[in-house]
Amino acid sequence: MTRLLTKSEHIPYPLLLLADETLDAINKYINNSEIYVLEQDNITIAVYVLQGVSPDTIEIKNIAVDKLFQGQGIGRKLLYEAIARAKERGYQNIIIGTGDASIGELNLYQKVGFEIYDIKHRFFLDNYPEPIYENGIQLRHMIMLRKVLE
Ligand code: ACO
Repeated sequence: MTRLLTKSEHIPYPLLLLADETLDAINKYINNSEIYVLEQDNITIAVYVLQGVSPDTIEIKNIAVDKLFQGQGIGRKLLYEAIARAKERGYQNIIIGTGDASIGELNLYQKVGFEIYDIKHRFFLDNYPEPIYENGIQLRHMIMLRKVLE
């Protein structure tokens, strides 16, 4: 189970930078968001960031697991937790965006119940200073996924 980071604590930028390429991009949302951290022996090993984007929709702006702990089911658990928090708070939708070449994330998000509903065309070309590659493919568009909360 994660805990909410307080405003006076250090933001775990090294982890956030695993999910988002630049500090500039992170700083656009981080101060208006809630940061949930997963700790083991007082070390932050995973994080996710939630931001209400409209009265009925909350967005997972960033989710990252320390490289040493990836592939062990932590990301999936954090997604289920974020979904549960969104429900508790009365939101009707939870959304998440990822790159068009982010095959692993597209797979994982759909496995936990998100569905593609939109594409932000040219997002990675227009918002980042350098080309970003994943799985040998340049990221161009952001794929938006949504889970409707019952
Ligand atoms: N092909 C298909 N599916 C894959 C692949 C791949 N190459 N790689 C990973 N997956 C998927 C599978 O669905 C797998 O599920 P399975 O075990 O049933 O096969 C799942 O990823 C792995 O699930 P977890 O172990 O729960 O995931 P993990 O703890 O590694 O967390 C995360 C996932 C957060 C994406 C982590 O790998 C990470 O921190 N990556 C770097 C940062 C990042 O890219 N974050 C997301 C960016 S988008 C955003 O932040 C909004």
